[in-house]
Amino acid sequence: MHILISEFMDERAVALLRAQHEVVHDPKLVDDPARLRAEAASADAIIVRNRTQVRGDLLEALVRCRVVGRLGVGLDNIDVPGCEARGMRVIPATGANAQSVAEYVIAAALLLLRGAYQSTAAVAAGAWPRTALGNGREIGGRTLGLVGFGSIGQLTARLARGVGMSVVAHDPLMNAADSAFGEGGVRAVSLDELVATADVVSLHVPLLDSTRHLFDAQRLAAMRKGAVLVNSARGAVVDEAALATALRSGHLGGAALDVFEREPLPAGSVLVDCPNLLLTPHIAGVSVESNDRVSSLIAHQVIEALS
Ligand SMILES: NC(=O)c1ccc[n+]([C@@H]2O[C@H](COP(=O)([O-])OP(=O)(O)OC[C@H]3O[C@@H](n4cnc5c(N)ncnc54)[C@H](O)[C@@H]3O)[C@@H](O)[C@H]2O)c1
Repeated sequence: MHILISEFMDERAVALLRAQHEVVHDPKLVDDPARLRAEAASADAIIVRNRTQVRGDLLEALVRCRVVGRLGVGLDNIDVPGCEARGMRVIPATGANAQSVAEYVIAAALLLLRGAYQSTAAVAAGAWPRTALGNGREIGGRTLGLVGFGSIGQLTARLARGVGMSVVAHDPLMNAADSAFGEGGVRAVSLDELVATADVVSLHVPLLDSTRHLFDAQRLAAMRKGAVLVNSARGAVVDEAALATALRSGHLGGAALDVFEREPLPAGSVLVDCPNLLLTPHIAGVSVESNDRVSSLIAHQVIEALS
């Protein structure tokens, strides 16, 4: 059978696929829509990350395809109902990058609350900004608010408890009696209570109509003064312009964004020069270990689905 891989996949996992199938692995295909559509015509399975848009023209071109492997978890780049209507199975790498994202969140929260890690150039140059940087905050005893309590939210809760945080979570699709809350020592709360009580708010929801701009100007204003926001979910869950305003006014104490409404973030965006803002290029879930786990999980599941 033919397997088409249009973005980067770990070579050991590609070798597993090649042992049983014909494989085209070209990470540049995602940027060449005409060639991608041409290759798609003979594919029995396609494997993508988050940039290949499996919808519209590409979906039409996937005439033989039975399986879509997703090297990650968010499915907003895939027309899932459209795939299923054509009899294609969509397989995400659920849980395989959760540890990487959870570690990113805790690290970002520590850096943002303490606010003292951007002094390298000043200290090396002989300045000694000790007074200015002596007002950082500890993470122990603070409250983490998780918006979305799926696999990443639950793992983040476990790490947060390890550094002495209390954890509250909001997930309207989960029953408050779900054992995941009790076992994690996490209190299920409404979104209003979460934003009113959390010192660190971290987002772990998929991008849906119901979560688009969930953190708009009004919701950001309802957060505690000095609280920090971490978004490693999807950019459009946060209104970036409203966030920039909340940081500049000093209402929020900092933010870390790994994901953006447009990726790459266009130069000169509203986020330029906001205080205590960390920006990373959609790497929260990407690490040596998670690349290995995600690629190997998808290779095995695609092989099984094709057999
Ligand atoms: N930055 C990265 O590298 C990276 C990596 C992995 C995942 N992600 C993003 O993180 C998201 C979460 O991943 P996951 O593996 O935990 O997914 P998951 O499906 O296990 O959990 C998502 C949770 O969100 C809940 N939810 C849905 N709508 C909600 C709402 N309106 N309010 C609150 N909760 C809601 C669901 O009930 C579910 O429990 C993914 O959808 C993806 O977009 C980003």
